[in-house]
Amino acid sequence: MHDSAELRSLYQARFHAEPAVFAAPGRVNLIGEHTDYAEGFVLPAAINFATLAAISPRDDGKISIYSENYREERSFDAASLPEKGNGHWSDYPMGVVHELAQAGQSIPGFSLSLWGDVPPGSGLSSSAALEVSTALAVEWMLGVQYPGPMLARLCQRAENEYVGANCGIMDQFISIHGKENHALLLDCRDLSYKLAPIPDHVALVIANTMVKHSVAGGDYPTRRRESEAACAVIARHRPEVKFLRDATLADLDRWGSEMEPKALMRARHIISENLRTVAAADALLRGDLKELGRLMAEAHWSYSRDFEASCAEADAMVELAADVPGLIGARLTGGGFGGCTINLVEQREAETFAKTLGERYAARIGIVPEMHICHASGGAHRLGKTGERRSAETA
Ligand code: GLA
Repeated sequence: MHDSAELRSLYQARFHAEPAVFAAPGRVNLIGEHTDYAEGFVLPAAINFATLAAISPRDDGKISIYSENYREERSFDAASLPEKGNGHWSDYPMGVVHELAQAGQSIPGFSLSLWGDVPPGSGLSSSAALEVSTALAVEWMLGVQYPGPMLARLCQRAENEYVGANCGIMDQFISIHGKENHALLLDCRDLSYKLAPIPDHVALVIANTMVKHSVAGGDYPTRRRESEAACAVIARHRPEVKFLRDATLADLDRWGSEMEPKALMRARHIISENLRTVAAADALLRGDLKELGRLMAEAHWSYSRDFEASCAEADAMVELAADVPGLIGARLTGGGFGGCTINLVEQREAETFAKTLGERYAARIGIVPEMHICHASGGAHRLGKTGERRSAETA
């Protein structure tokens, strides 16, 4: 499978109907990790990997969902939707359908076919791409259109409550609001955002350590709990502190001794990461790439040492990148414990950079990494018959 034309024709062969097709991108986060659920700041960009969702109504009250990736079909009764997921890939699209029903929509039968090239388990938000593409498809069928931030919240709820993964808002938000050649500084408190152009001469080189990452697993929720415990200690002294977004490094100096040592470390990462993320967006807007690179390196080591969310392979990928010509900044991106590093690289060096870093990583770790030279792309949208993006008016 390569594109929407192929998905469309496979869809027609399977469901004997002409579908409407939607695309939602994955993302890479330049900086701001585990800050979203602390109501802080993140600086992601949507990337040119996406999930496509093809949909058409059916009149037998059934919801049929086919995954081209898993080559598997699941059927549900639109009149009695399951209340919870059960650890299957269909939990993601069905979570969205469930949330739309919770929001008061009456859900008719439909056939949905999904295909995506966001590498799963690599920290590039394949889950959000699946949720958002489904959401756009089902919205279209219902004839409704939620405002972007509301739709992002709805998809996040699908993942939190139906799938059972305790993620924040970053991935769903950027998948909807991404802009070609831009990163987006999101304030996760009020969902206001500012776009920062990524200069033409800068490439996003994504290096997959090939170590699997998962948000649903044990470590992500543990980190979240530890950092919330630190916040609760500060809140005993300063009740106005509701989230670590409201806390300062000075609070840690004063009350850190009342925290579990791990909780203190997690909080130090989140509080300092918020400062770095705002500073990084400023640096990008000013064109100060040197400062951006410095902040990314600092962020990586804070993520690795204080948040303990890196792994030996990701640390090696970041260390090795520092000696490859063309690097502006590198760090582990996404939820942590494996997945990909993001390398901002001078465009003219990008090919050689990717090749050299890949070889050095393979030589040191003994695993051949996948390397992707990406660009920041636009957010979720409808695709026309020939695969072109349809404007909001024609969608
Ligand atoms: C995952 C979650 C996000 C965010 C990141 C860490 O991608 O889905 O909400 O918490 O991890 O920054």
